[in-house]
Amino acid sequence: MTTATLRGNDRVLHVAWPDGTSADFPFLWLRDNCPSGFHPQTQERLFDLTAIPADLSVAEATVTDTEIVLTWDAIDHESRYTPDWLYNHRPGLGLADPAKIAPTLWRGDLHKGDIPRANAADLMARDDALLAFLLTAKKTGLAIVDGMEDDKDAGMTIARRIGFLRETNFGTTFEVMSKPNPNNLAYTSHALPLHTDLANQELPPGFQFLHCLANEAEGGGSTFCDGFAIATDLRERDPEAFDLLANTPVPFRFQDADYDIRRHHTVIDLDAFGELHELHFNAHLAGIFDLPADRMEAYYRAYRTIMQMTRSDDYVITTRLEGGEMVIFDNRRVLHGRAAFDPNTGFRHLRGCYVDRGEFDSRIRVLSRPK
Ligand code: OGA
Ligand code: ZN
Repeated sequence: MTTATLRGNDRVLHVAWPDGTSADFPFLWLRDNCPSGFHPQTQERLFDLTAIPADLSVAEATVTDTEIVLTWDAIDHESRYTPDWLYNHRPGLGLADPAKIAPTLWRGDLHKGDIPRANAADLMARDDALLAFLLTAKKTGLAIVDGMEDDKDAGMTIARRIGFLRETNFGTTFEVMSKPNPNNLAYTSHALPLHTDLANQELPPGFQFLHCLANEAEGGGSTFCDGFAIATDLRERDPEAFDLLANTPVPFRFQDADYDIRRHHTVIDLDAFGELHELHFNAHLAGIFDLPADRMEAYYRAYRTIMQMTRSDDYVITTRLEGGEMVIFDNRRVLHGRAAFDPNTGFRHLRGCYVDRGEFDSRIRVLSRPK
């Protein structure tokens, strides 16, 4: 049976479960997370932490078959927790999250056939197929949907099944084709070296969807590389370059007749735990570096090093999207590019949109709920 012992000097309740696991629960944490303090429907916290003294203590802890019951000093309140709930919320454990998926890194030896793939009709019709696809797409950061209808809105329809579309200055969706008066290199027939989109934005879009409606011109093949694999290898091989790229903000900028959107980012962005969070890498949107002159040379060395890695067969995969395929990738992890094409030899048209990481993760969590 579960036991609960007060350890007043440490201001914790020590709980031991029958499987041998034990944990300490600080008094303030217990009061702050007392189930009575949450709205029964919304599950949002109603309890006000400032309404209790900071030195609040548990007066008594009793354990029944189904509950641990606490009475408090100084306040007239009783708190009840199930042993299972406490077990699953042990401090320091990190809460279970179906969308927390470690990336599987890949390098230049990934073949097109190894890229996770799903059929458009299956994804639209079956939640289990969608969930399985989202989980693998998140692991690899790159996936393909095939069997797409020859309909301009088909990509958007699948993206919307996952989450809200992220609108940008290029619209809710954007047409990637060679256009007169382009405001973006993507809208020419030039090659696009590997990049992440919209690094000039405060928060660059998360997942990108590029539905290939036609790819009949000569050239126009696609390239991808896993920015997390590159950053991981760089961290090991050249820690000085890694640190410079992770700690030096550089400017990115997009401008046309209607917009001038600018933001500084580091090329490599780590989260609060020191894990890779995202990359911002876009040589065509990079602004004029504005570091002090005496740091410029060292920074350029680091920047060229990662840029060379994005040109290396060790990391880059080359493939060709066919009409009816849609590629999906985490734009803040996987870099994408394309070879130049000759618009006089045939039509090339991709239609793109974005769904941010938060919406993507939310769909994974909702689809993972017990039925
Ligand atoms: C883009 C882009 C790739 C392609 O539109 O941002 O990178 O294959 N397009 O045209
Ligand atoms: Zn792009």
